Amino acid sequence: MGNATITEVAPGVGEVRLGPLAERHQAALDDLVARYGRADHPDFLPRAPFAADVLPDDLAAALAAMRYRESPSVLVVRGGPVAEPAVPTPVHWRERPAAATVRQDFWLALVASRLGDPVCWSTLQGGRLFHDILPIAGEEHEQTGHGSADVLEFHVEDGFCDHRCDALALLCVRDRDGVASLVAAVDALDLGELDLEVLFEPRFLIRPDPEHLRGVDPASVPVPPRPVLFGDPAAPYLRVDPAYTDPLPGDERAARALEDLCARLAGAMVALPMSPGDLLLVDNYRAVHGRAAFRARYDGTDRWLRKVTVVRDLRRTGRRAEDDTRVLEPFAAVRG
Ligand SMILES: [Fe+2]
Repeated sequence: MGNATITEVAPGVGEVRLGPLAERHQAALDDLVARYGRADHPDFLPRAPFAADVLPDDLAAALAAMRYRESPSVLVVRGGPVAEPAVPTPVHWRERPAAATVRQDFWLALVASRLGDPVCWSTLQGGRLFHDILPIAGEEHEQTGHGSADVLEFHVEDGFCDHRCDALALLCVRDRDGVASLVAAVDALDLGELDLEVLFEPRFLIRPDPEHLRGVDPASVPVPPRPVLFGDPAAPYLRVDPAYTDPLPGDERAARALEDLCARLAGAMVALPMSPGDLLLVDNYRAVHGRAAFRARYDGTDRWLRKVTVVRDLRRTGRRAEDDTRVLEPFAAVRG
């Protein structure tokens, strides 16, 4: 059912606009809700890529291109078959009603399943597979999914960790204020203008963000020097998280190279406001993402996204929590 149209909105950034909410999709979501109840059900997750056969052909083709050709690096899927729910935006991820976004989560899981297997961290949101991105009172200035008043600086997700996701998926549940997600793809860079030699060398210290470090002694977490670009010099992968990255002490050439790379990424940033049902997919090796600043109201109408991260190979994700194959331990090595 080729009812989707794909357009390039910026270098490396594609958009698919789905046709009118197809009955077929609604029925598929109804069926999944009835059969599994929740999208993180262990029986559903391995079947998700097959259940995704219901997706429109054009969308499936765009997802396959993103995964196998690594182009586009970012894909916005607009007009998914989920409307803004009646339930208000929770005041905290811990306070969310259990079934508040069941249909959203299944849609998110179906689309994201074509890019990889969902995983999460033991250190974030209680080890839940699907996360709430929503403003939390008192955390306005945090550089996390719960801040609001400041721009969320662009970054590669979990750049500190070798087992970070291959892609992340963000579904808009509610956004009445047009708060833009920000993305920039490596495709937008003129590589000839960068100090590639330095950026490809392990001359940068990438620290974990404070959310991961709750309950962990930061001194116990090793921060080895890393490159911020890697892979094919003609089409590099990014490991860029400027808010948590320092060049090695005294390495002024590395400092300049990183500053220049970040300035160019900032210049390439694309603003993507999203409406309920819109879904943003970001290749975490080929693009950075962030968020515009906004004023949170905490009255149940604030911006609310659901998020899941996926990996292409679950086997290579390091040690996992004891009884759940999807929950990763970011500091397994240091915790013994
Ligand atoms: Fe992020």
